Amino acid sequence: MFITDDIKYVGVNDHKVDLFEGQYIVPNGMAYNSYVILDEKVAVMDTVDKNFKDEWFANLDAVLGGRLPDYLVVQHMEPDHAANIANFLRRYPEAVVVASAKAFTMMGQFFGCTYDERRVVVTEGDTLSLGKHTLHFVSAPMVHWPEVILSYESSSKVLFSADAFGKFGALDVEEEWDCEARRYFIGIVGKYGAQVQALLKKASALAIDTICPLHGPVLTGDTLAEALRLYDIWSAYGVEREGVVVAYASIYGHTAQAALRLAELLRAQGTRDVQVFDLCRCDMAEAVSAAFRYSRLVLAAPTYNADVFPCMGEFIRKLVARGYRGRTVGLIENGSWAPMAAKVMRTMLEGCKELTIAEPAVRIDSALNEKSAEQLTALAAALE
Ligand code: FEO
Repeated sequence: MFITDDIKYVGVNDHKVDLFEGQYIVPNGMAYNSYVILDEKVAVMDTVDKNFKDEWFANLDAVLGGRLPDYLVVQHMEPDHAANIANFLRRYPEAVVVASAKAFTMMGQFFGCTYDERRVVVTEGDTLSLGKHTLHFVSAPMVHWPEVILSYESSSKVLFSADAFGKFGALDVEEEWDCEARRYFIGIVGKYGAQVQALLKKASALAIDTICPLHGPVLTGDTLAEALRLYDIWSAYGVEREGVVVAYASIYGHTAQAALRLAELLRAQGTRDVQVFDLCRCDMAEAVSAAFRYSRLVLAAPTYNADVFPCMGEFIRKLVARGYRGRTVGLIENGSWAPMAAKVMRTMLEGCKELTIAEPAVRIDSALNEKSAEQLTALAAALE
């Protein structure tokens, strides 16, 4: 992958990972990116996951051509990037680590060493000259850990962006950027919208031709502009697309039937984009990502142990944890003796800002009947 004559890619693709961060399925694998800047001084930008030490060192050898690195710049301490810091410093005993103060504290925690004799602590506004290249450090706390510091290389207008602008998926698989970047962002960084907005404000003051993230492809040109546009929407909790997500949980199929009937009614009345998710079976991260993408959401669930059915409870907790807001939500509950699901779902959503609950909430007593079917029609009209 060509970045510039002096900035080289030395990352790796992971097709063996079953769950990224122990919870996200990654059907197309994962990329752990790392870069080298070749100048009078040589800087290596971050390491890679622990399982790829040998491959990463081989990539480094190929690019270094016998030279030795002067600096290891550590932008983020999460082990998918930082796992090989100690290995790198053993292999290159003359190299110096460049990172934020919080990152060095975490190195102490992870490696039992804070590298006091061979480190440069950097903070917002600091620079590191490599020769004709100069790194300008940009603090980005909580994007996605508190120690994160990005690096802007001013001579080539390259922003090394850590997790920001990353996506799921290895780089040897062709796929669109948007969907897996959205699922990654909402799932992993979604809670920190305000911090991402702060970062975007800083980035808008920089002339950026290229973004080099720690996951996913290097971004340039129209792709870069589109990524910036989407990041602004996602981090501001804005609506990316008009449409309705119908998310349901069902035990024997009666709640599913109501959810699918509602989806039909919505389509029949002209709602162009209706996305249906069976929360008991789908990728929950995909459903969460869709809920943030679209303007309206319907939650349909049975009552269970005087509570809402478990996977719906999990779904709502994931929405709330990521700051779900500014949407219209419809509710469908089912119960054979004491329906509670709508009340529980309403209560769970109470902390969300600027939510409108569409009326009526639909009450199903075991199975759809004439009365609940009429309520479904009214709810569809309210969601138009
Ligand atoms: Fe890709 Fe927050 O680590």
